[in-house]
Amino acid sequence: MSRLKAADRPYDIVLFGATGFVGELTAEYLAAHAPEGLRWAIAGRGEDKLRRLRDRLPAAADVGVLLADVADPDSLRELAAQARVVATTVGPYVRHGDALVAACADAGTDYLDLTGEPEFVDLTYVRHDARARETGARLVHACGFDSVPHDLGVHFTVGQLPEGVPLTVDGFVRVGAAFSGGTLASALGQFARGRQLRAAALERRRHEPRLVGRRVATPTGAPRFAGEVGAWALPLPTVDAQIVRRSAKALDRYGPDFRYRHYAAVRRLPVAVGGVAAVAALVAAAQVPPVRRRLSGRLAPGEGPSAERRARSWFSVRFVGEGGGRKVFTEVSGGDPGYDETAKMFAEAALCLALDTLPVTAGQVTTAVAMGEALTERLRAAGIGFRVAASR
Ligand SMILES: NC(=O)c1ccc[n+]([C@@H]2O[C@H](COP(=O)([O-])OP(=O)(O)OC[C@H]3O[C@@H](n4cnc5c(N)ncnc54)[C@H](OP(=O)(O)O)[C@@H]3O)[C@@H](O)[C@H]2O)c1
Repeated sequence: MSRLKAADRPYDIVLFGATGFVGELTAEYLAAHAPEGLRWAIAGRGEDKLRRLRDRLPAAADVGVLLADVADPDSLRELAAQARVVATTVGPYVRHGDALVAACADAGTDYLDLTGEPEFVDLTYVRHDARARETGARLVHACGFDSVPHDLGVHFTVGQLPEGVPLTVDGFVRVGAAFSGGTLASALGQFARGRQLRAAALERRRHEPRLVGRRVATPTGAPRFAGEVGAWALPLPTVDAQIVRRSAKALDRYGPDFRYRHYAAVRRLPVAVGGVAAVAALVAAAQVPPVRRRLSGRLAPGEGPSAERRARSWFSVRFVGEGGGRKVFTEVSGGDPGYDETAKMFAEAALCLALDTLPVTAGQVTTAVAMGEALTERLRAAGIGFRVAASR
């Protein structure tokens, strides 16, 4: 509790977008798990909706309510000035996110989001990393299922391997779950922005310092049957491998020559083929604006899987790490990845930044770099499995 300072800001944590699907789950998690004395608030654009949410929370009287709208940059600056940590669920981030990152970078406020949009992460790096380093703000993207289990899972796996030698890690993701309107809108939006995504990645490469004296690579693996996990492995071109790459670049512990490959793991070949075909069809459909709008409309913002459906959902990410004559098999696992566990990861990351003693970092940083072991321990204590399955 030593880091709970009554100091300069009225709130330790402000949750922006608290009235959305993941926002509500995160508010409920914080209400149930925030330590005594934590000063926190829910924020959004609709006062009535926020007050109704607050009234449903336990110990509601202690939770502040703040109004802000992404269309009103002044309201975002005010929000950033009132908090030590701002956690936002207001996506799609490439459409709604930039002004809040700017406000937090400027105010020296730690910032967390749930983006899985690589274009957004690259744009905010180019625009706001330097300012955040000046003010000391930590800008931590992808604090949900994208990309916490992968980033911290690789960090945990590397920790089981020898130091100072070349290391390779492969990650194999399996999930059984459904998704929300907000996630569908973000995914379709990303699929339609291939050109902008490549341009943002190029712009980032122009700004980012080159890694000197070490090598880090995240090649796209080829589809194959992976005997080590007993499943078909399909390259997974999500933001996760990029986040892992940035952690590996920032942390010498990943060794002089580090390689990570990221896969979806599917037990049965027909399911693998069907899955690839379904994603390809969705990517193609997203290129046609009226079709994209119709698909988006099938799940409204604020809608998502029921509590019963979420209770049956699960995820498992298996890692195979090798180096210095040692091979290790690890696993990160939990319940509903997209919502219940995402809300848990997001809330615990906010608590970790607000309360824990962490390495001194600033600017755009990953969960492994900013919070590494402290967040892993929090998540373990909250029921997410991090285990070594075998090693030799
Ligand atoms: N990384 C992951 O693993 C992961 C998992 C789940 C979700 N996500 C991402 O998280 C985001 C939220 O998902 P969701 O399902 O919770 O979406 P949602 O239910 O549609 O919620 C969106 C939130 O944004 C708010 N909002 C929209 N426009 C706003 C504006 N102009 N000013 C202020 N607030 C505004 C909404 O407020 P109102 O209530 O007033 O409309 C709502 O609180 C999406 O981008 C999704 O892709 C990521």
